[in-house]
Amino acid sequence: MMSLQHAPADPALETLLGPLQQGELSWPSASGLFLNARDGSPLHGRSLPGMVCVQGFKPYVDALRRSGFEVEPEPPIGRRFPLVLVLPARQRELARALYAHASDLLAPGGVILACQANSEGAKSSEADLERLAGPLQVRSKNKCRVFWTQPDATVDTPLRDAWRALDTPREIEPDGFISRPGVFAWDRIDAASRMLAEHLPSDLTGAAADFGAGWGFLSMQLLERCPGVTTLDLFEADARALDLARINLARRQPGRTVAHHWEDVTCGVSGCYDVVVCNPPFHTQQAGDRPDIGRAFIDAAADVLKPGGRLWLVANRHLPYEATLDALFHPVRIVAQQHGFKIIEATKRIESGRAAR
Ligand SMILES: C[S@@+](CC[C@H](N)C(=O)[O-])C[C@H]1O[C@@H](n2cnc3c(N)ncnc32)[C@H](O)[C@@H]1O
Repeated sequence: MMSLQHAPADPALETLLGPLQQGELSWPSASGLFLNARDGSPLHGRSLPGMVCVQGFKPYVDALRRSGFEVEPEPPIGRRFPLVLVLPARQRELARALYAHASDLLAPGGVILACQANSEGAKSSEADLERLAGPLQVRSKNKCRVFWTQPDATVDTPLRDAWRALDTPREIEPDGFISRPGVFAWDRIDAASRMLAEHLPSDLTGAAADFGAGWGFLSMQLLERCPGVTTLDLFEADARALDLARINLARRQPGRTVAHHWEDVTCGVSGCYDVVVCNPPFHTQQAGDRPDIGRAFIDAAADVLKPGGRLWLVANRHLPYEATLDALFHPVRIVAQQHGFKIIEATKRIESGRAAR
């Protein structure tokens, strides 16, 4: 599960709040904005009145709401905040767009406060904010850099306009799908998903689901290659990716019965399917390998597949999913192993045991 209640310490979040903790900055009495917010113990037990969090990734949204914070999927248009906190995205264009949004949403005399881990490009990120908004105060701690600025007249407005547009959905060549920075494999077709698509048999039929559907590549391929698929449900935690999938499916597969669900698959989903296709995530925005997420996806697939239903999955070869698959499915067949990936077909058990859930 990706619940942040059990997540390891979050050095960037802790370092971000350092200047408030040490009294170098103070939380405004009325409200503050937190872009690309995530929950964690550094936020708990401190007074952050009126904090509005912006986040579109469902597990993070759920964790923030459980902790009592207000969460919006997109920056609130028309409001201004005296303090804007930012955890810049790793993807540089999205990080620059976030800085542009931070500057748009800042009240006169307000402060932008940001923090990034050194291993995720803190120095470049710091240089970007300085370029946009002027001189910074900088501190270094926990292998992170925290920096802030009170831009007022120092914002480079032409640059801000250009960076705001970096986040806009656009058509990606040569394949012509619609995407935007920050979503998984935003400007390409993921090699693992492509390999899975190439191995999908044309005899998959009935009600289908795509777990972790991203901007919709696998879903489009499934509908194209398998005319017997009657309905398709896309499940995706990233709201921005799901919006893109909605556009891509409508453009490429008009007239097919498709539904889109903004959900955390690791919490389980509801439905009853003949087919599940999946290229599960195996890390979060913060950590290294997290095979527990893929296992939770497999578990969720077993819960919603009919007896005899088929799971088609791609994974990096080193990821240990076999024990989970063998407990829930039979037979489990490795269809192909190439380029460091494995393609697996697993059939939901018909006999008793865990299949009876
Ligand atoms: C490896 S990518 C596959 C994307 C897509 N299927 C494709 O073909 O390119 C995994 C996807 O799972 C999504 N994801 C991550 N954690 C999730 C969760 N807990 N619940 C649902 N989706 C999640 C990610 O946002 C990402 O789009």
